[in-house]
Amino acid sequence: MSIFGGNGSKATRGFREARGNLRLTGVTKEFGDFTAVDDLGLEVPRGSFFALLGPSGCGKTTTLRMVAGLEQPTRGRILIGDTDLTGSRPYERPVNTVFQSYALFPHLTIRDNVAFGPKRRGEADAGKLADDALELVQMSHLAARKPAQLSGGQQQRVAVARALVNRPEVLLLDEPLGALDLKLRRQMQVELKRIQTEVGLTFIHVTHDQEEAMTMADTVAVMNHGRIEQMGHPEVLYDLPKTSFVANFLGQSNLGDGRVTGTDGDDLVVEVAGTTVRIPKSRSTVHDGAITFGVRPEKVRIRDQRPDGAGNDVKATVVDVSFTGVATQFLVTVASGTTWAVYEQNLDVERNHLRPGDEVWLEWESGHAFGVPVNDVEAAAATVADPDAAKAEPRAHQSADTSGDGTGDGSGSDPDALAVPS
Ligand SMILES: Nc1ncnc2c1ncn2[C@@H]1O[C@H](COP(=O)(O)OP(=O)(O)O)[C@@H](O)[C@H]1O
Ligand SMILES: [Mg+2]
Repeated sequence: MSIFGGNGSKATRGFREARGNLRLTGVTKEFGDFTAVDDLGLEVPRGSFFALLGPSGCGKTTTLRMVAGLEQPTRGRILIGDTDLTGSRPYERPVNTVFQSYALFPHLTIRDNVAFGPKRRGEADAGKLADDALELVQMSHLAARKPAQLSGGQQQRVAVARALVNRPEVLLLDEPLGALDLKLRRQMQVELKRIQTEVGLTFIHVTHDQEEAMTMADTVAVMNHGRIEQMGHPEVLYDLPKTSFVANFLGQSNLGDGRVTGTDGDDLVVEVAGTTVRIPKSRSTVHDGAITFGVRPEKVRIRDQRPDGAGNDVKATVVDVSFTGVATQFLVTVASGTTWAVYEQNLDVERNHLRPGDEVWLEWESGHAFGVPVNDVEAAAATVADPDAAKAEPRAHQSADTSGDGTGDGSGSDPDALAVPS
């Protein structure tokens, strides 16, 4: 796109020209004696789609605000390429933010909303830049309207165009799809991914929706209590979580606390509530003593009789059977009293005959099991039986974001925070 092919705007003390990977080193933010972001270190490769995923109140918005310059870290540094942005003002940074509330100017047309930033910088072709940006988000046909005449999804596109028109090096998106209904949300996820691929900019997308993070991002960082618990490609994170928090925040997991009792070739032998199971050594972050065993619901099979395989099985009682169309979800209790979930794809036309109270056997391949450290307090709250409880929105989210612009202090609707004066 032409708006991204230029040489960039005039430098403001050099910060706006910064190019390269986004790097955070030892970034900490304290509010009084509360640590909202704790010694964060990460590097986001230029041009990648990076998702910061975590429950409400874990420090996502605070992290974004520090990257945007709306908040200064208590300690640590923020760099783009070799340029240290720490301490610089928001308008000095090659960074723009898209908020959940869109924060469009109600009295301006869509085109003028998008042209606002370039106009303030005194760019002669502001109108053309706005048109290009609107084309990118497929909103050219509504350019003459006012924000109030657009649907939520359309306003969201305009908000994206208004940020992209400034040609930021890094685009920050703070739960941008949070106000959309599910279907529109899914559409916009695909759209945003397409736009990111097309413009090739670094996108940092903040969300508490694990599915959103997994479908969109090249790299997902799972954040908890101001720290990154694990970071990597979504498939890798899903396949091999390293903590019980990650195991249950990114998808669901059936977990059981146990003890390593020995080894058998490449496997650890683990006792969990009277059952012996195996975990490949390479799939466990713990190799002796107390351990939490885990296996994903779709990796478990339900059998009527005890399987005669290698012994990765456990007896269980059916508690609930829910038909969901593509799959059937079973909730079962195992000997320890823990509830497990099992997903079975609906391959057969025959109706499932299992009913609550039926005794069954659960079976899985040891290669699908994983081991993580015990004693994650969160693990107790995030049991499979009540997955929503772990992801529910605590009140902190409300207090942090009720200013309506996702910034906590209203600066998101401040033109200076959004536009880029020269
Ligand atoms: N300006 C502030 N003053 C005091 N505490 C704050 C402030 N901003 C955020 N917090 C607190 O820091 C924590 C992280 O907030 P936030 O970054 O908004 O979380 P998230 O975006 O992940 O929901 C929360 O407990 C929140 O209440
Ligand atoms: Mg937030």
